[in-house]
Amino acid sequence: MKYLKAILKEALRLHPPLPTLVPRVARQDAKVMAYDVAKGTRVIINAWTIARDPKVLIPFGSGRRGCPGVAFAMTTNESVLANLLYNFDWVLPNGGKEDDLDMNEQIGFTVRKKTPLLVTAKPLSI
Ligand code: HEM
Repeated sequence: MKYLKAILKEALRLHPPLPTLVPRVARQDAKVMAYDVAKGTRVIINAWTIARDPKVLIPFGSGRRGCPGVAFAMTTNESVLANLLYNFDWVLPNGGKEDDLDMNEQIGFTVRKKTPLLVTAKPLSI
């Protein structure tokens, strides 16, 4: 389970569903590090680039407007993924090889796989 959690975190770090988080507008003049941010400036955070640093995990944003659903999302994802892996064997159809998988992503409201993942589930109890 520790390994599964690590995979979940790493997948979210490298493939954040909201790579530029949610755009914000500065309510007042502010200074962030060395930068002057004028009132009314639209601020877009490039979380995708920030998260290339393996020490950083910000798929849920950060600070006061960070995602309040982080604990719910992580436990739900963990539980669903653990059950899918525990109860089924997963293979690619038609003798497909893992290396041939198209891992390209497509931008939309959230980022998702460009080509849907097609897999065959074989119940382990049979
Ligand atoms: C893997 C799943 C999820 C991801 C990656 C995600 C990601 C995010 C991100 C990046 C933000 C913007 C944070 C910022 O601008 O700093 C956000 C905001 C928010 N999320 Fe999530 N989220 C997820 C699941 C959820 C769930 C399950 C809930 C509720 C049950 C939720 C509720 C919210 C709400 C209400 C906000 C707005 C917070 C605010 O503006 O103050 N999210 N989320």
